[in-house]
Amino acid sequence: MRVLVIGSGGREHAIVRALSRDPAVTDLHAAPGNPGIAELAQVHEVRAADPADVTRLARTLGARLAVIGPEAPLVAGVADALRQAGIAAFGPDAAAAMIEGSKAFAKEVMAEAGIPTARSRTAGNEHEAAAALREFGPPYVVKDDALAAGKGVVVTDDLGEARRHAAACGRVVIEEYLDGPEVSLFALADGTDAVPLLPAQDFKRARDGDRGPNTGGMGAYAPLPWAPPDLAADVLDRVIRPAIGALRRRGAPYRGLLYAGLALTSGGVKVVEFNARFGDPETQVVLDRLATPLAGLLHAAAAGDLAAAPALSWLPGAAVTVVLAAEGYPQAPVKGDRITFSNYSERTGAYLLHAGTACAADRALVSAGGRVLNAVGSGPDLAAARAAAYAVAACVEMRGGWYRHDIAERAAVTVRE
Ligand code: AMP
Ligand code: GLY
Repeated sequence: MRVLVIGSGGREHAIVRALSRDPAVTDLHAAPGNPGIAELAQVHEVRAADPADVTRLARTLGARLAVIGPEAPLVAGVADALRQAGIAAFGPDAAAAMIEGSKAFAKEVMAEAGIPTARSRTAGNEHEAAAALREFGPPYVVKDDALAAGKGVVVTDDLGEARRHAAACGRVVIEEYLDGPEVSLFALADGTDAVPLLPAQDFKRARDGDRGPNTGGMGAYAPLPWAPPDLAADVLDRVIRPAIGALRRRGAPYRGLLYAGLALTSGGVKVVEFNARFGDPETQVVLDRLATPLAGLLHAAAAGDLAAAPALSWLPGAAVTVVLAAEGYPQAPVKGDRITFSNYSERTGAYLLHAGTACAADRALVSAGGRVLNAVGSGPDLAAARAAAYAVAACVEMRGGWYRHDIAERAAVTVRE
């Protein structure tokens, strides 16, 4: 099978890596890709959020399956255009990707489908925002209604900061604060049915101890030894299937990856957000543990026939990923710093994935984004996986580079006790 992957981050490197290990994949292409992806796939230039340009590339290549990594192309209608051209696309149409593209739309779908989530108000001006902030009280949760690349949400005890964020965004969703651990659950969906992947946990805050600003995610691990064993089945029944049903009734069948960001509150599981794509960096650990070949699964979802796909099987043990970030991330990441490695060689169970990297004119590897590399480690348990991931992270030399030191630390200790 000839496969084209759209995107250029650590998530796409993880997807390409899993596809490169699938014997059914004869020919692997990526666009725009990055230097790590280029070691596994033939890379091409593309305007990733331009439906006509992506379709032209997929046609020229004769791709049988196109996998769309990031949200912006989905919201822009890239999957619609591919499907209209007769190419199987893994990723929802624009109408269904609205579940990520608009927080207010996601809330409407959840209300309609009876999906548990935080109570919320959509505010279109400062007056409405002030009223909603008063209604819910602190900690204040203010979300930009539109896509904001993981930077649209402010959670704060400071009313002034909450008001300023609302004023800066325009239309916002303001909601009650959800207490409890967060879980990311991904499901493959074929328009009608869905299959859950392994639950994972992401670390959103920049600094150790969950301090500092929100980021796109500084690390992740899977599986979750502390989570109830029936979590995935429960979320499938109460969240994923109702969401897919509601979208289908609206004439927007969901084919692709539905990401439920959940809070396990004292009042049960509640949805924090939906995303229309694989999460980054959770995908790096979830796909590390997936034993079932990936291409057949993604193609079955894209073709609307998950029932024909093999049952999922998972490697035993655990995986951890640690994100290596550039100086200044998330506010103003510095780009163009040279990256070198000491004592690093890729091996099973401990390897690097590229996110924001590029090749400079002199062919040196340099940073090109806020999240630069992902160190991935696996092992028989979380403690071993952490040790492997941090050993790889320590091999990277980059001026100003940094990472969190406590990814999966608490969960690893829980298991040992
Ligand atoms: P979102 O983009 O909606 O996932 O929000 C980003 C992050 O903000 C989430 O992963 C949570 O850590 C936090 N967050 C969002 N909504 C809430 C909420 N209602 N209560 C507590 N934390 C939240
Ligand atoms: N790791 C969070 C996200 O992908 O949105």
